Amino acid sequence: MLNDFTNEPLLNFNNRFVIDKFRSTLNQVGAKLGQYYPLIIHGEEIYTVEKITSIDPSCNSQVVGYVGKASAELAELALSSAEQTFRMWSKVEPQERADYLFKAAAIMREKKYELSSWLVYEAGKNWAEADADTAEAIDFLEFYGREMYRLAGPQPLVKTPGEHNELIYIPLGVGVVIPPWNFPLAIMAGMTAAAIVAGNTVVLKPASNTPVIAAIFMNILREAGLPDGVVNYLPGSGGAIGDYLVTSPRTRFINFTGSKEVGLRINELAAKTVKGQHHIKRVSAEMGGKDAIVVDSTADLEAAATAITVSAFGYQGQKCSACSRAIIVQDVYDQVVQSVVEKTSKFTIGAAIDNHPVGPVIDKSSLNRIKSYIAIGKKEGKLLLGGNTLESLGGYYLQPTIFGDVSPDAVIAQEEIFGPVLAFIKAKDYNHALEIANNTEYGLTGAVFARDHRKLEMARSKYHVGNLYFNRKCTGALVGVHPFGGFNMSGTNSKAGGRDYLLIFLQSKVISEKY
Ligand code: SER
Repeated sequence: MLNDFTNEPLLNFNNRFVIDKFRSTLNQVGAKLGQYYPLIIHGEEIYTVEKITSIDPSCNSQVVGYVGKASAELAELALSSAEQTFRMWSKVEPQERADYLFKAAAIMREKKYELSSWLVYEAGKNWAEADADTAEAIDFLEFYGREMYRLAGPQPLVKTPGEHNELIYIPLGVGVVIPPWNFPLAIMAGMTAAAIVAGNTVVLKPASNTPVIAAIFMNILREAGLPDGVVNYLPGSGGAIGDYLVTSPRTRFINFTGSKEVGLRINELAAKTVKGQHHIKRVSAEMGGKDAIVVDSTADLEAAATAITVSAFGYQGQKCSACSRAIIVQDVYDQVVQSVVEKTSKFTIGAAIDNHPVGPVIDKSSLNRIKSYIAIGKKEGKLLLGGNTLESLGGYYLQPTIFGDVSPDAVIAQEEIFGPVLAFIKAKDYNHALEIANNTEYGLTGAVFARDHRKLEMARSKYHVGNLYFNRKCTGALVGVHPFGGFNMSGTNSKAGGRDYLLIFLQSKVISEKY
């Protein structure tokens, strides 16, 4: 009998023991940087001549590791391995499949500090952000394992006389998993685990900025005894293998999280039926956001300012859930702006290993993209804080940047920046604020601060986002507690960490017997 799912507790970084252990693990992991991780296809380690280099964004002269780089031929090999393994894996009892996830979760729990340390080096996360990523990964494994147990049990059907009816869930086939770099352990592990626990086999193409943590996860799956070929670890470029994997007739589904541009491209490519294909491909695409926190005049302004600050600048704004617009009704606008600027100006900026509240952004091209949005922002709004890069620190650093008096239709109020840039927008009144909040092509997360419950009720129906939060920050969805996924251009509303998620990777068969 399984115990109920509970969220993995976060580390308490006020505890001396925890701090010391985290620091010493960072040192141990620091001594392991620079290693080479091969591709893994059907359990076989394949060393390629061409490599992908993973760089520490906090210190860009430091190599975190090298991973193999797959060609189209190797992608084909990985797909055929997955196809072959599917024949066996799809027949393994669902509970047995789930048990591999529980084993992997147990190993991850043991290696918690180590995994988080890798995230510090490879993703530029400060300690608490890294720990939350690791805890979420463990949560996904524990949650989806239990979900598979539930779906493997009898499913409710209406009874009819003279017949016995049964609905069972069966897997789809070979899937391609393309996770993002911003939750390179949690989202990558969750997207992979859900697909395989449902009985599918996958080709996992990790994000090229964070392939080392994915290699480490792959090794944990092997340590847990997962049969060869159920997950095939295949780093490579989008150009060389991304399209190839998506368009292959062997591919039955694609599980993607990342940018809108790539998500839409995958959706288009997957829609085209190719020779030898006997199915319609399913695409789960979780994409961007232009998330807003709305502050009403009845709000606890201090709490609202704290939530805006944390949601906008946590992990340098590189979360699809990050608050990039603060929409404030005019009578409290100045107060909230002042408080957010004050709080943000206290943040120190520096290397993730030194646990600064603000660290680097992921890479040079990200830095350049954000810089160009800041240049646009300088024309569109009033620069209230930041605005400069700090590359002399040796990494991809930018000051947390705040613009005031931004118009709702401005570029920086419409396009996803994915960096530490916040736009303040003044609303005439609460209704106007909700209108502005909905005025983008996205619909992922949103928050409202108000003490007046009628205002919150209004937002409940009007504010069109997949994850709506009242009187709290708009980041930090917890597995099982806040199933996560948005509307419109934010994606296919897959609701990761929710009860509907595994159904994306399953199909149902109804068996009716007359008696
Ligand atoms: N699930 C994360 C959050 O809620 C974003 O991917 O912040």
